[in-house]
Amino acid sequence: MNVLIIGNGGREHAIAQALKKSPRVEKLYCMKGNAGIAEIATLVDVDYCDVKAVGDWVDAHPEIGYTVIAPDDPLALGLADELESRGHRVFGPNKRAAEIESSKAFAKALMKKYGIPTAAYETFEDYNAALAYVRAGKFPVVLKADGLALGKGVLICENLHEAEEGLKQIMLDKAFGAAGNTIVIEEFLRGKEFEPGEEVSVLTFTDGKAIVPMVASCDHKRAYDGDKGLNTGGMGTFTPCPFYDAAAEKEVMENILLPTMRAMNAEGRPFKGVLYFGLMRTDEGYKVVEYNARFGDPETQVVLPMLKTDLLDIFEAVTDERLSELKIEWEEGACVCVVLASGGYPEKYEKGKQIEIGALDEGILLAHAGTKRENGVLKTNGGRVLGVCAKGNTVEEAREKAYRNVEKISFEGMHYRRDIGVKYNKKG
Ligand code: AMP
Ligand code: GLY
Repeated sequence: MNVLIIGNGGREHAIAQALKKSPRVEKLYCMKGNAGIAEIATLVDVDYCDVKAVGDWVDAHPEIGYTVIAPDDPLALGLADELESRGHRVFGPNKRAAEIESSKAFAKALMKKYGIPTAAYETFEDYNAALAYVRAGKFPVVLKADGLALGKGVLICENLHEAEEGLKQIMLDKAFGAAGNTIVIEEFLRGKEFEPGEEVSVLTFTDGKAIVPMVASCDHKRAYDGDKGLNTGGMGTFTPCPFYDAAAEKEVMENILLPTMRAMNAEGRPFKGVLYFGLMRTDEGYKVVEYNARFGDPETQVVLPMLKTDLLDIFEAVTDERLSELKIEWEEGACVCVVLASGGYPEKYEKGKQIEIGALDEGILLAHAGTKRENGVLKTNGGRVLGVCAKGNTVEEAREKAYRNVEKISFEGMHYRRDIGVKYNKKG
């Protein structure tokens, strides 16, 4: 079968690499892709946020048997609905189900209604009411723009001054556009053992009837070592997560994963696709920090290399609602991904810098994110440029291998964190 992947980041490259291993996949296509994906797929230059244009393209290419929608924005815009209504087979939730990510107000109300553990909160559309609420409340306090904001619509405010500034930015200055028309104001969650708190990403496959977690992973959202600097899309990841043991898995399945799947069904919004749970381990047990309606980036780059089962088989089982019939298997061991970013990211950065890559060790998986090839020369084309991923028996071993290979790659302005895989792991 020929498969079309929608998206252009490191996550999509990891999905493409996993699908490539399936004996049932003939040709891969990717809309829009990047220089790494171009090595294993045919790139399609159509704006994937124009759902009608994507629908027209797929209609005109009957050789495509299946489409995987990876990014959040086309899902929120209803690309799955559009393709399904034209009779195409799709992996990814429909628009109403994807609201679990695209509206934080919806997600919080869902958790409240169904008793799913999360931070206490209030929702506001009126600036003055929001202001009065933070003035009467405790600090730190967390402000979240309701809509999609490239992972940047969350502000953690240490004091009233910061909270007033944040409210103004989101609600009056519209720093995140219409995403800030509604705001969620939330209690700050503390971790059980670590500062600023231990977070784990649990990605799951679900067809609305069964929900199957993938191996758990940990992201590093801040730009600099020691969790300093601005929030980014993610500067690196590792799996497994040292504190996420079998007891945690059981607690989270019973208190969070199954209740969320059932809540979406009860709301008439059955979720089919990858449902991502961003969790915090607190003194009161695990709580949901965020839901995403898709694979995480860069979590996918460490999770999918551990998958033993054919990814296309899983995708199709989700589409056909027979996920419970499938046994999904994972490798033992660890995987670490170090993201190489453009100078200045997550703020202003330049593109078009030439990338030099030396001879990488065997087994290194390079996930291209913001890259392009111009006249045969590999160049930077985004904030996050490459993910250097390595496997090992332990996180320690995998991170040493990843960093050894990071040193073989260079481009002007390249920056990366040197502490990926250190947190929560005793040795570093
Ligand atoms: P989000 O985009 O919702 O994942 O938020 C970005 C990051 O902000 C999360 O990964 C957490 O590190 C942090 N965060 C969000 N909400 C809370 C909260 N209620 N308490 C503590 N930290 C939070
Ligand atoms: N790495 C976090 C996300 O994909 O949302």
